[in-house]
Amino acid sequence: MSLPFRPNVLKMRPYSPGKPLDEVKRELGLTDVIKLASNENPLGPPPKAVEAIREAAAEANIYPDAAGFDLKNAIAEMHGLKPENVVLGNGSDELIHYLGLILLEGEGTELVMGNPSFVRYDASAQLANAVLTKIPVDKDWRHDVDAMAAACSDKTRLVYVANPNNPTGTVIDQAETDRLLAAIPSDALLIMDEAYYEFGVKHPYFPKTVDMIKAEKPVCVLRTFSKAYGLAGIRVGYGLAPAHVIDAIERVREPFNVTSISQKAAIAALNSQDHVEKTVKLNREGIERVEAAAKEMGLNTVESFANFVCIDMGRPAEPVFQELLRGGVIVRSGHVLGMPNHIRVSIGSPDEMTRFIELFKTLA
Ligand SMILES: Cc1ncc(COP(=O)(O)O)c(C=O)c1O
Repeated sequence: MSLPFRPNVLKMRPYSPGKPLDEVKRELGLTDVIKLASNENPLGPPPKAVEAIREAAAEANIYPDAAGFDLKNAIAEMHGLKPENVVLGNGSDELIHYLGLILLEGEGTELVMGNPSFVRYDASAQLANAVLTKIPVDKDWRHDVDAMAAACSDKTRLVYVANPNNPTGTVIDQAETDRLLAAIPSDALLIMDEAYYEFGVKHPYFPKTVDMIKAEKPVCVLRTFSKAYGLAGIRVGYGLAPAHVIDAIERVREPFNVTSISQKAAIAALNSQDHVEKTVKLNREGIERVEAAAKEMGLNTVESFANFVCIDMGRPAEPVFQELLRGGVIVRSGHVLGMPNHIRVSIGSPDEMTRFIELFKTLA
């Protein structure tokens, strides 16, 4: 039986995640496999969040608070904003979807983004059948904000900057952010996707995007509990924006998109800043180890402000990815990320990094 699916839907491809551990074990007959592919937190969730999840489980028969009152208030307070400036999502992925729903509709609308950057932006333009304009990053793998601004048209509705960028790990600074915002059309919303904020904020000129929202600029900031907060499995992200943007998203949001268990866990995570600090420190040490190992081998890395690092193999990196896989180490092949000569390595625990580095040194 064939149904008249929308042609643009049929052009979309399902998301391709990093290879799951069990699949690799099964396919390659391995028992001891590590995954450095999905930018997850090697320290696990904050203990207080685990406790909150346990407690909340006992009330799983009750629907969640659809307004997310307590979590929204905690987030608003943390940023010095009002709850009207906050929207909660089932991961920031869901908010990317909603932003497409509220501003993109057909070929008369356009999304502008960097290339390579986060693949879910593509999907939101494709779903809306909107024009998708992808602007190559510069020679240092950084967003080229001037080229992005120049590419905007009167159709442009969404301009996306992942900052730090995935998969490159690079950052744009305050001056570049201001320049981009000043140059994009007045009908467009600038989305600063700060999924890796806690790692990136060490950059000396990291943009103070929350201040831009306080100044009522057409900016939406996306953050997540999936990375530094160690809660990728329970799916909570949030958006910060001027109230009229949040109001539009609230109109399309699924009422119970963030579970009661997730809301409680996220509040506990916000009260676990020590866990975030530990995570950021461990991550920095891991990045330095990978950089040093690559340098010893005469290989370049892209300067990373996130929890992963890209290594330039100077040749197609897919065979290196495959060899690492055979050795039980799953990384991301740049081939699928728009950086075919690179592998992207998420920073794991110190032991995992030792295992990666030892194997990697035998390959290159
Ligand atoms: C740049 C960027 N934005 C958003 C996300 C989505 O994160 P989540 O939906 O887990 O909040 C990711 C996840 O990898 C990401 O890399």
